[in-house]
Amino acid sequence: MDGTLKQEKMDIVFVGHVDHGKSTVIGRLLADTNSLPKGKLDQVKLNCEQNNEPFEYAYLIDALKDERAQSITIDSARVFFNSKNRHYIIIDAPGHIEFIKNMVTGAARAEAAVLVIDAHEGIQENSRRHGYLLGMLGIKQILVLVNKMDLVDYDQKIYENIQREFTEYLNEINIQPKAFIPVSGKEGINLNHLSDKTHWYQGNTLLEALDDFEKDKPNLEKSFRMPVQDIYKFTSYGDDRRIIAGTVISGKLNVGDEVIFYPSGKRSKVKTFEVFGSESYSQAISNQTVGFTLDEQLYIRRGEVACRVDEPQPYVSKKFRASVFWLGKNPMRLNQSYTLKLGTTRVIANIEEIHRVIDADKLGSSEHQKINKHDVAEVTFELQNPITFELSESHSDISRFVILDDSQIWGGGIILESVQDEDESMREEIFTRNSRWIRSHVSYNDRAERNNQHSSLIIITGKQSSGRKKLASMLETQLFLEGKLVYYLGVGSVLYGLNADLKRDNSNNWNEHIRRISELAYIFMDSGMILVMTAVELTEDDLHVLRTIIGHKKVKVVWVGDDIANDMIIDLQIDDDEVFENSVIKIKQMLKDRGSLFNL
Ligand code: GTP
Ligand code: MG
Repeated sequence: MDGTLKQEKMDIVFVGHVDHGKSTVIGRLLADTNSLPKGKLDQVKLNCEQNNEPFEYAYLIDALKDERAQSITIDSARVFFNSKNRHYIIIDAPGHIEFIKNMVTGAARAEAAVLVIDAHEGIQENSRRHGYLLGMLGIKQILVLVNKMDLVDYDQKIYENIQREFTEYLNEINIQPKAFIPVSGKEGINLNHLSDKTHWYQGNTLLEALDDFEKDKPNLEKSFRMPVQDIYKFTSYGDDRRIIAGTVISGKLNVGDEVIFYPSGKRSKVKTFEVFGSESYSQAISNQTVGFTLDEQLYIRRGEVACRVDEPQPYVSKKFRASVFWLGKNPMRLNQSYTLKLGTTRVIANIEEIHRVIDADKLGSSEHQKINKHDVAEVTFELQNPITFELSESHSDISRFVILDDSQIWGGGIILESVQDEDESMREEIFTRNSRWIRSHVSYNDRAERNNQHSSLIIITGKQSSGRKKLASMLETQLFLEGKLVYYLGVGSVLYGLNADLKRDNSNNWNEHIRRISELAYIFMDSGMILVMTAVELTEDDLHVLRTIIGHKKVKVVWVGDDIANDMIIDLQIDDDEVFENSVIKIKQMLKDRGSLFNL
């Protein structure tokens, strides 16, 4: 293999109905372009002679993978060959299930595809389905080979009929094929030179058409994206710097660049790149695993995606439409929760709607309640929390996801479209607030370390006269006596002061009340305080606003009494006949368990 060093690489997958000639075409192409290991062709021919069976070019592929005995290709065989321009990695996809499984889980990658149709047998169900799957997998460059032309006497009409019918189908599913080529794998027709047998065809040979595929833009030229893998703390005394670590999936990042983390929208400038055991550098590029520090200490969590402020921003939403491929024994169902893993984040997701199901036998058939094993479907997911994602293949780490159960993969999918969720405008406001937030020299972490606590908001709620206020003030006193930074704020204190301009009898003002209370609480959180608030029967909607504005992890809801409002997500329930002292102990224990209180 000469001259490969500087050559561009491209992964191409061959798909098509069983026996339509994928392996034969690949084998013949390898043979005709002298790409086989020395002696391989003779060895396989000799083998066939000894076994008294006719030689097949397809055996070459299997011989390269040692699967000859099975006489069908059982796993995605990868073969390599060079054209003048490129180094190709060819995936001979055996069955579509294995192939999609590998594609959606990221085990295989292909930039372009060759779909093989038998001229004699014509378009089959799988020809259509594979076309659809390629589209779903985001492979837009598709070349169609009409193979076994020798079996139809190189009949132009037959070729053109297949071309017309299949183009119509592909266009219907939004795919524009790059080209059609009449070939014979067996006879080596139009693979690496045009043949007189198809004198009516003047287009590219297979080899030329492969070289005609366009290479994806290198990820370096795309916007910078780095899913945060970990946050490390320097261990030496007095050094409170945090290193944000992860693998750059695209683009470049320089010292001094302003980075923004999504979904939180927090931002700061890159101060240094930190490297262990190698030379320091001032720029990180795609595929590198890096760690960097920021000008200001931010509270960033694993799973957020670092982006550059001066580049196009990613999608952030709690809803998206996706193609999913289901592998689980039990069908995937509407309104059931699943864990999705995308990049370095995990999120609980519900299927809100199943738009259509393409079952294993019939394309286009649909049912709308469940997705059976090996089905492909288009669904809308609603997530518990917003996540950051992209729609393009070039950011596949954050545009593809797998569906997990106990770390077992149950399926996978690709995000097709971001769907607007109800929090969009609230998130916009938060992003703006964060971008304008004026920081001081004393960081949140400085405060947390000094005060031996993380800030948090404890909301004590429940039915009327359940003793919430008394409990809140006892909790405040107890924490205060233990040296904690704590403040009890009754909602009433805000309604008649900060919110005095909002008429209380106008229910339209309620959203604004909650927004202001949340922003006020956010300031308390930034100052490192434990804030105790009481409220009568806050709704889950109110809590959602609070959680979105100040961060899910910060909010702890304590419900006093039974009869918990049924959709409410709470952290602790306390009986209303519980002795207050015991309730205080329980709340303190919860804070300790959640890591809000140190050294208790
Ligand atoms: P699977 O891997 O099992 O899905 O099949 P495949 O698509 O790789 O087909 P394969 O290359 O194994 O070919 C299937 C049969 O078709 C073999 O017997 C080949 O000899 C025959 N075949 C393939 N291409 C041609 C061709 O151009 N002309 C003729 N006459 N036969 C062909
Ligand atoms: Mg094969």
